Amino acid sequence: MAKAIQYSELGGPEVLALNEVPVPVPAPGEVAVRVEAAGVNPIDAKQRSGLRPTPPITEPRGTGIDGAGHVTAVGSDVDGFRIGDPVVFTGIVGSYATDVVVPAHKVFVRPAGVSAAVGAALGVPFGTAYQTVRSLGIRGGDTLLIHGASGSVGQAAIQFAALAGARVLGTTSDRRADRVIALGGEPLAYGDGLVERVRQAAPDGVTAILDCAGTDEAIEASLELLEDRSRIATIVRGPDAASFGIRAFSGGSPTPLSAQQQAWRLEAIPVALALIATGRFHVELGERYPLERAGDAQQAASEGADGKLLVLP
Ligand SMILES: NC(=O)c1ccc[n+]([C@@H]2O[C@H](COP(=O)([O-])OP(=O)(O)OC[C@H]3O[C@@H](n4cnc5c(N)ncnc54)[C@H](OP(=O)(O)O)[C@@H]3O)[C@@H](O)[C@H]2O)c1
Repeated sequence: MAKAIQYSELGGPEVLALNEVPVPVPAPGEVAVRVEAAGVNPIDAKQRSGLRPTPPITEPRGTGIDGAGHVTAVGSDVDGFRIGDPVVFTGIVGSYATDVVVPAHKVFVRPAGVSAAVGAALGVPFGTAYQTVRSLGIRGGDTLLIHGASGSVGQAAIQFAALAGARVLGTTSDRRADRVIALGGEPLAYGDGLVERVRQAAPDGVTAILDCAGTDEAIEASLELLEDRSRIATIVRGPDAASFGIRAFSGGSPTPLSAQQQAWRLEAIPVALALIATGRFHVELGERYPLERAGDAQQAASEGADGKLLVLP
């Protein structure tokens, strides 16, 4: 038998149960993975609690989108994977488990030197960061402001934007400013006086803004700092982004991601893996939790934690 964290009703961390389930068998087009680490994303708790809508629960539902481990079985028509391959995967429902099956196009071979822990940290944050940087058309000559730059998505976005040649300003707590600097960004404190600090740092103005914080301050400052609303995007304020005339990439937006945006989110993973394997990209890992403490991990992620939290089956 395999083990999986599941829930049968929406609610707090207490609705999560550690269940024994049959070891999943890959259908055609799928790969089975023994999970060594699962990444904990803020969306996991938002979906579990009902803060972000999901289809009605008709049977026990897994939680967790990202993970890494090694291949244990390969579906009949799948090429490119062998049993034992170290892999990263994303985009599933239920990565907090010992064993999962994943559509093959969401599985990527993990290069030597990239641990399962680092691999499990990539899917949602790096996919989101890469897609937003591509969707905003970030390039050399841009000055990008990232709200929430010290978080998992923010850190990935700093690196993708810097790689594209942009100058990157990032809001952060003082405590976390070093992280922003280490990745090539310029830290600015969030809080009172933010607009003035940005104007002082970039007297010619910022040319694009990515909101990974979702605060009223981030939205209001963005509207004051940049006239071109098509170059302001939020990944948190999806429900009311349109009322400000800015772009939203899901985060509760009524507009789903386009096929291109979804493709970019997957394309990000092999791009990031290659850059990490060659030491050019960095991933900050945080606390690790055993499977039975998945609820604590989700709670900690919702309250804001340093580095990517992991559940280790
Ligand atoms: N739309 C999507 O597809 C999508 C995808 C991924 C994530 N998200 C959402 O994006 C958000 C960030 O995700 P994450 O994984 O990066 O979370 P995270 O790692 O927990 O980072 C949260 C960040 O918010 C910052 N922050 C806290 N209070 C702030 C404030 N008052 N002003 C500005 N920044 C503040 C924190 O900075 P300090 O620690 O320095 O205070 C930290 O950098 C979450 O709401 C998540 O659900 C959306």
